Amino acid sequence: MAQKEKLLTLAIETSCDETSAAVTENGRDVLSNIISSQIETHKDYGGVVPEIASRHHLRDINRVVDKALEEAGKTMDDMDMIGVTYGPGLVGALLIGLATAKAYALAKDIPLVGVNHMHGHICANYIEHRDLAPPFTAIIVSGGHTDLAEVTGYNSCRILGCTRDDAIGEAYDKVARVLGLGYPGGPAIDELAKKADPERIKFKRVFLEKGSKDFSFSGIKTAVLNYMNTERQVGREPDVAHVAAGFQEAVLDVIVTKSVETALERKDKKLVMAGGVAANSRLREMLKKKCEDEGIKLYYPSPVLCTDNGAMIGCAAYYKYITEGPDGLDLDGVSGLSL
Ligand code: KG4
Ligand code: ZN
Repeated sequence: MAQKEKLLTLAIETSCDETSAAVTENGRDVLSNIISSQIETHKDYGGVVPEIASRHHLRDINRVVDKALEEAGKTMDDMDMIGVTYGPGLVGALLIGLATAKAYALAKDIPLVGVNHMHGHICANYIEHRDLAPPFTAIIVSGGHTDLAEVTGYNSCRILGCTRDDAIGEAYDKVARVLGLGYPGGPAIDELAKKADPERIKFKRVFLEKGSKDFSFSGIKTAVLNYMNTERQVGREPDVAHVAAGFQEAVLDVIVTKSVETALERKDKKLVMAGGVAANSRLREMLKKKCEDEGIKLYYPSPVLCTDNGAMIGCAAYYKYITEGPDGLDLDGVSGLSL
C-alpha cells in the first residue's frame, strides 16, 4: 500500500495524562518525540482527573504538534499520514487527539490511521531494537492494562490473558496512596523499595487457577491496608519501605512467572515487555534473570518509550497503514478498546 520509499508520520497520543506528538519515518525511525506530562497537575488530586486531562490536552496539543514538527525539521506539508490513538483511554482525552488528527488529515488531504494504544506500547520496542521481529510473546504492564499477548505479525496480536480487576500500574498507584507516597505511585515505590528488604514482609502471590494466564491485583491493596492497620493497632509504626518492597515483590513475582511460563509454553525464544510499569527497575532485574536462566531473549524499551508517547503511536500507525490502509474520518474514540 505504501507508495513512497519513506513514509513520514505525524503521530498524536492523548489517551491519558500525556499530550504527545512525534514525527516518525517508516515506523522505526524517530525524528522527534515531544511529551508534555500533566503529572504535576494531577498530583494534587492523587490521580488523573479525566475532565482536567481533556482540558490540558486541548490547551497543549497544537503547541506540542508544532514542536514535534520543528524538532524534526519538517512542516505539515512533508507529512504523508497522521497516526492517532483512538483507544483505549479516557474518552474525552482521546477525542482531543482524534479531532486534531482529523483536522490535519482533512486540511492536508493525507491518510488518517487510528492506533490501538496497547499495540503502540508493543511497537515501542521496534524503535530501539532493530533486530526485533514477530512472532514473540508480549507482556504489557501499564496503568490501565496487564495483558499477556502473542504477537504474530507487525500488525497482529492476540490476548492470551489479562487482569480480571485492577491493572498492575493501578495496584502500584493505589498501594502508594495507602502508604502516603503520592501520585504516580509506581516510580515512588520503585525508588523506595531499593532501600528495603523484599522478603521482610510477605504478601500473597495471586496466581489464580492452574494454567490461567489472567491476573488479579485488587486484593493486594486491601492486604497492604490491613497490614498497616494491624501494625498500628498494636502500637507499631510500619516500615513503609519494607511494605513497598514486599508488595512489589509479590506482584512482580506473578508477572515474571506467568510471562516466562507463557513464552516457554509457546516455545518462543523472545519475550517483549512494554507499558509504563516496564520502566520499573526491579521488574527489569527479575525478568532479565529469569529469561537468562531459561534461554529467552528479553526486550524492553528505555523508560521514555515505556510511558505514553507519540513515537510508539507513529510506529504502530505505519505498520497498520501498510497492512490495512487508512481509516475514515468518521473514526471514533473507543475507551474500552482491546488488543
Ligand atoms: O503506560 P502508562 O504511561 O499509561 C497507561 O497507558 O496507563 O503507565 C502509567 C503507569 C502508572 O500506573 C505508573 O505508576 C506506572 O505506569 N509506572 C511505574 C513506574 N513508572 C511508571 N510503575 C512501577 N515502576 C515504575 N518505575
Ligand atoms: Zn499507556
